[in-house]
Order: sequence, then C-alpha cells, then structure tokens
Amino acid sequence: MSIRRLPPELVNRIAAGEVVERPASALKELIENALDAGATQVAVRLSAGGLELIEVADDGSGMSPDDIQLALERHATSKLPEDSIDRITSFGFRGEALPSIASVSHLRIESRVRGADGWRLEVDHGNMVGKGPAALPPGSRITIERLFDKVPARRKFLRSPRSEYAACLDAVKRLAMARSDVGFSLEHDGRRILSLQPSDAPDRVSELLSHELDRHGVGIDCSRDGVRLTGVISLPTFNRGVADHQYLFVNSRPVKDRLLVGALRAAYRDLIPRDRHPIAALFLDVPLEDVDVNVHPAKTEVRFRDPAAMRGLIVGGLRRELDAESQRSAAREQAAAPVMWTSSHSYTPEPDLRTGTTVLRQEQQSFTPISFTPQGRAEPAAEPVPSHPLGVARGQVAATYIVAEAEDGLVIVDQHAAHERLVLERMRAAREGGAVARQVLLIPEVIELDEPDCDRLEGAIAELGEMGLEIERFGSTAILVRSVPAALGKTDIASLVADLAGEIADLGGALSLRDKLDHVAATIACHGSVRAGRVLSVAEMNALLREMEVTPRSGQCNHGRPTWVKLGHGEIEKLFGRK
Ligand SMILES: Nc1ncnc2c1ncn2[C@@H]1O[C@H](COP(=O)(O)OP(=O)(O)O)[C@@H](O)[C@H]1O
Ligand SMILES: [Mg+2]
Repeated sequence: MSIRRLPPELVNRIAAGEVVERPASALKELIENALDAGATQVAVRLSAGGLELIEVADDGSGMSPDDIQLALERHATSKLPEDSIDRITSFGFRGEALPSIASVSHLRIESRVRGADGWRLEVDHGNMVGKGPAALPPGSRITIERLFDKVPARRKFLRSPRSEYAACLDAVKRLAMARSDVGFSLEHDGRRILSLQPSDAPDRVSELLSHELDRHGVGIDCSRDGVRLTGVISLPTFNRGVADHQYLFVNSRPVKDRLLVGALRAAYRDLIPRDRHPIAALFLDVPLEDVDVNVHPAKTEVRFRDPAAMRGLIVGGLRRELDAESQRSAAREQAAAPVMWTSSHSYTPEPDLRTGTTVLRQEQQSFTPISFTPQGRAEPAAEPVPSHPLGVARGQVAATYIVAEAEDGLVIVDQHAAHERLVLERMRAAREGGAVARQVLLIPEVIELDEPDCDRLEGAIAELGEMGLEIERFGSTAILVRSVPAALGKTDIASLVADLAGEIADLGGALSLRDKLDHVAATIACHGSVRAGRVLSVAEMNALLREMEVTPRSGQCNHGRPTWVKLGHGEIEKLFGRK
C-alpha cells in the first residue's frame, strides 16, 4: 500500500472526532471563540439539547469577510501572534474547531467588524453552500445545525436531548464561572435558563453553584511560590453522590484535570465517605511557564511543570481550611444538628374530640427504628455543669450513644464514630512525632490470604511497619504478623489484615505514600475503637468527651458523618411547644 496525503476534508473529519464529540463540545468551542474575541456579552440559544440548533452570538471583535473564509481553514488562527505556544492566554490556539465543526454539520458564520458591514458564510458538511451580506450588530453569530447528520457513527453515540442539554448547560456554566466579568444568557427550546450580568468570581460562583454553599462552604484563598488558589469548597458534611459539581480552573481555563481532581479528593480523605464527593469551585493561577495547556485536543487537561509540588500545595491549602473550619464548628453548636433533630420526629397539634383539648401526636417516624433492647443508663446530676463544650456525661443509650449535659443544651455522641476519630488522630500525631508504639505479639499470628492480597501487603511492608504493624511474607498464601499498633488494643488481627489488603487494592498505585499511610491509619483506627454496643463507665465517657474537645477534626468520624449533635435549650423548648 502506498502512502498518500489525506484530503483536507478527511483530515477535518478526523480532527472533528477529537474536538467535537457531542453538541456540548461544539458549544464550548464557540463560546471560547466569543470570549477570545473580547466579547462582553455571550448569548447562547439551543434546541433539543443542541442536536437541532446551537447558536452563539457575541459582541466581540467580529471578522472581516476574508477572515471568515480563513477561519474555516485548518490550523488557521489569530491567536498565536508570536508563533509561540509556551505562553498561551487565549482559550483557542489550535485553529481546528471551526473547520472540524464545519465538516460534520451545517455551519453558518455571520460576523461584522465595528464600522464595517456584516458578512455571512455557510458550509454544509464541508461544502460551501452560500455567502453574502448579513445584517447584525458588531460581533459574531455562529450557528450549528444538523450536527452529525451525515456521520451516523457519531450520531449513534449521542444521547437523549435531555442529557445532551445537561452537558451543554454544564459547558456554559463552566465558562461562565471562568469569566465572571462577561455577561451570559442561555435559552433552551425557547425557555430562558440563565441570565448572568457581569460580576465577580464569588458572586458568579454562588449564582451558578448551590446557594447552599453560602452556608455550607469554606472560602479558599492561599498562595505560595507565585501560585494562587482561590474559590469555595463544601464542608465535608455537605457532599454529593456524584462528582459533577466540581468546577476547576487553571488560569481561567475550565479543566477536568486528573491531578486537580485527585488533589481535591485527597484533601477530603477520611472526612467524607469514599463514595461521596465534595462540591467545589477552585481557581488556580499559575505562572504561564509552569503549565502546558497544549496536551489535549479539547484543551480540558493541562500538564504542570512540577506536578508533585502543585498537588502538595492544593491538598495542603484545602486541608488547612477544612481543619480550621472543623475546629470552629466544634466550638459552636453544629449547624446541621437542629435540622436533623426536628426532621426525624414531627409533631402536629391535633384536637382531642373527647376532651376538647389539644394534644400532640407523634407523626410516623422517619428514622429507621433501632433494634436494641432498651438499656439506657443515667447518672444523677449531682455536680453543677462545668463549662465543657461537650458537657458532662449523664448516661448511655443503647450502649451506643453517650448523652451529656452541656451548659447550653443536650449533647449526644456516637461513641464508635467519635472514638474511631480519636484513635486515628492519635496515630497520626504519633507518626508525625516519628514514633508509633508497637505491641509485639508473644506468638506471631499467621493469616491465610489469597496470593494477590499477600503480594499487595508485601509491597506495603515498609508503610505498614511505620504504623506499628510488622508483617512478613509467609509462603505464597499467608502473612505473618509480628506486632500491631499499640493504639489498637485487643483486636481481630486477621480481619484487620484482610481489610488492609482490600484497602491497598482499592488505592492502587495512584496515591502518594503519605495518603496511603493515612488510609492504613484510618482502617486500623476503625478496628481499634470502641464498638457500638459496649457499655462504658461514666469515667470512660467523660474521658472520651474531654479528648474530643482537644482533638482536631473530632467533629466528624473518618467517614465524614458527625460524631456528635447538640440540641440547644432553645430547640428543646421548641420541641415542647414552649417557644
Ligand atoms: N466569535 C468569533 N469572533 C471573532 N473571531 C472568531 C470568532 N470565532 C472564530 N474566530 C476566528 O476564527 C479563528 C479560528 O477559530 P477556531 O477554529 O476556533 O480556532 P482557534 O480558536 O484555535 O484559533 C480564530 O483564531 C479567530 O480568529
Ligand atoms: Mg477556537
């Protein structure tokens, strides 16, 4: 077979395969072009999720008739004035979006430079089908219709108009957050969806993201070595089942970068459950020479000159704010608590027909009933309540919850969740101090596991040793345990080791040593803590409460659930209708 140069038409369609995956990606390219042209207003119109129509109108620089023609040629761009791709500040630079889109749709470009007349050019699946004067205000209006009509392979992969629309909306939101100084409007099937006036980043983000973040968010602003990170992230307790509300920007460019997503994840490590995701809008500003944006056809990924440093900076910065916030919320009443309380039982006054008085009837309870036999234990309130934020233990309910009296209300603590966190923090502190106490087993324990699990554990011998867990390979399908972390107390070593093997498998090779150790510590902590169902003495309960008050991050368990709730005096009065 002889080698030949492909005709430009075919080249464009091949490029379209990368650049224009679905309506949302075409829309993204058009909006980026409008922003690059200096628009102050961008108006988007869609029908059927962009499958029928995508139109983007802007008030930017516009193009002359000659430029319109050129814009449709591959690798034609106005955006690399010095032929340098090291310092890119525009969204576009590859010069392939318009020719790619033109090869797989019916594309109309109308454009007008200020002080000149407007011009129109129409291309249908790569063929020029019309041109002539156009009437429009200065700026451009680009219309895409019949996307992929003649590309059945692509059409097959398109989803319903509803989900294509969702992707389009997401694309608009990301760019609108990236450029809060520009006004945006969005219309879908004749309905006005968005209308955003030019503003600043915090306002734009709170307009587009959940307003709830105003209350459940943590503001971020940190910088180091010429890099600045700003934005807002959700409190660990305010999370989602999917990671779709994470908006990340590098030098104002929306990205879906693995490193950034991973760093965000790592900052919440052990604060939220593994299958939950924080909400975030984060803006990273980096010197141009420290980041390469030319690594992905759709320009959604970047490459950092020093990825590890960047990751460290982000994880560290976010973690500091989350920790500071959790300390703040441990000091005051937990905001979420009253809501949880009042929603679990709701009382409605109901007139009692026989006596003519009003009684309170408990509505059906929305919580899952606890299946313990009642075994509450109460301690008389002999001494006055000293001012501990978490109060003095008064008793235990279901051998699982500690009930304490604080100056300002009633505190309930989940003993297992709280203790697990304390053990984890103790282990962390010990590790930071360089000495994790070990407890050497009199008789080493042999644990049978399958071979891959043994391999994984063997690969982590050093890390586990640092945590006080000394193991050795013992044949192909067993592990020998010589010592366990002293913080553990009495524990089922076999199930701990099996859990750790699973943990290491889940983590894969993706994490830094530090992150892995944290995971290992969390798993060990879970095994080493007081179980639900264990009866505690009053002294033990009070000791737990005092330790929680001085331990960082003690307001959440290692899975992100609260470890305690407080019912203020005001809330109690409300429950009884006294207020
Ligand atoms: N809305 C617009 N306003 C003004 N010029 C535009 C607009 N859209 C495209 N252009 C011009 O067309 C050129 C090609 O666009 P495109 O194919 O997206 O490549 P790139 O954006 O990478 O340069 C741009 O460099 C720009 O000069
Ligand atoms: Mg472009």
